[in-house]
Parts: sequence; structure tokens; C-alpha cells
Amino acid sequence: MTAGPTREPLDPARFLSNRSSGKMGYALAKTAARRGAEVVLISGPVALSEPAGINTIHVTTAAEMREQVLEHARDADIVVKAAAVADFKPKKYREQKIKKSSAEPLIELEQNPDILAELGGTRRPGLLLVGFAAESRNHEQEGLNKLRRKNADLIVVNDILGAATGFDVETNQVILVDRSGSRQLPLLSKVETANRIWDHVLTLPSPPGRSL
Ligand code: C5P
Repeated sequence: MTAGPTREPLDPARFLSNRSSGKMGYALAKTAARRGAEVVLISGPVALSEPAGINTIHVTTAAEMREQVLEHARDADIVVKAAAVADFKPKKYREQKIKKSSAEPLIELEQNPDILAELGGTRRPGLLLVGFAAESRNHEQEGLNKLRRKNADLIVVNDILGAATGFDVETNQVILVDRSGSRQLPLLSKVETANRIWDHVLTLPSPPGRSL
């Protein structure tokens, strides 16, 4: 399970990141553990306390998250990528703080590796892949595009513009997009949404190689 944002450092004082709170990913980790799963939670920097009894690994950058995910995916039955991985990072890390007086108003960026797409592209038989999509429009279509592009089994789409479904709130309303179609869940707490996601995951056909 991955959760939270990643941080991509620019200089010793600054980084690029996003508004993910990690609440949805932590709710998924806790509900999975409550159902008896052995959970490894790979978390970006969040203001949440470590869930009791769950092996929690803290990472900062997308590169660190990738390393941990690839290592733990080897033994996993299901990988859920709820983390909001930064798509870009500064091309160059400055060892010294950039001075306002000498700075150019341009930061060159480069793409981070897409961890979910990499897992989907080199998929081990039996591994079930769940991704998230934070969208502001065309939610269902974007979910379907992501399902195909990243070779995932399920994409959970949420609307980042909704007051009760966006960043850092306790509730969510998601659309579950899998290969057989899509289904909208009602507005629920993140814990209840997590439970409904697990209910749905258990109905998915097992990927070839292993039965869940
Ligand atoms: O492409 P986009 O960022 O919208 O896709 C979101 C999904 O892909 C999430 O499940 C996220 O964890 C995953 N992702 C990733 N590595 C990235 C970007 C996104 O694993 N660099």
C-alpha cells in the first residue's frame, strides 16, 4: 500500500509536492489489516500517525518510493498505489539555497518514473494492481485510460474539485473502473470507502498465476 504525496527537493530549503494528505491510503491500510491482510504501508510525508501493527516505511521522493514498492511487490498479492506521486522533479538539485537575488524565474523539471505503469508493464503473474486517479474532469474516461495505460486491474477515480471529495477531507466519493465497467460509490467516509474498495477488489477475477 502506498499513501501520501512525494516530495522532490529543489534546494536544502525547498521542494515540489502536492496536496495529498494520505488519509485514503492510510484508511485502506487499516481496513486491510483489520480484515486479516499482512500490510506493508509505504508512506510519503504526511501528518498522520503510524497505524498500530502495520509495517510502515517512510519515504520522501518518488525514487525512494519506487525502490520500496518494487522490493515489496515481489512478495505481494495486491499492490495499491494510493500515493500521489509527483509526476515531475527538478532536473537539478542545488546543494546551496537558491538566492532570491541570483535566481532565474525558471525551474527545469524532468519526469519521475511512473511506478504503477512500471509494475503493470513487468507484471508478475498473480499480482493484482490497484491505482488511483485524482481528476478534475472526464472522471470515468480518465480512469479507463489509466487502467489501460498502466495495465492495472482497478482504478479508483476521485474528483479533486468536490468539496467533500478532494484533498484533506474525511469523506470521498469514488468511481471504481475495472475491465468489466465502472461503478460509482456514494459519498462515504474514507474508512467506509476503503471497505467498499476491498469488497470490490475481492470480486475481481484473479490475475493468472495465483488465486486470492
Ligand atoms: O498518471 P497519474 O499520476 O494520474 O496516475 C495515478 C496513479 O498512478 C496512482 O495510482 C499513482 O500512485 C500512480 N503513479 C505512480 N507513479 C507516478 C505517477 C503516478 O505510481 N510517477
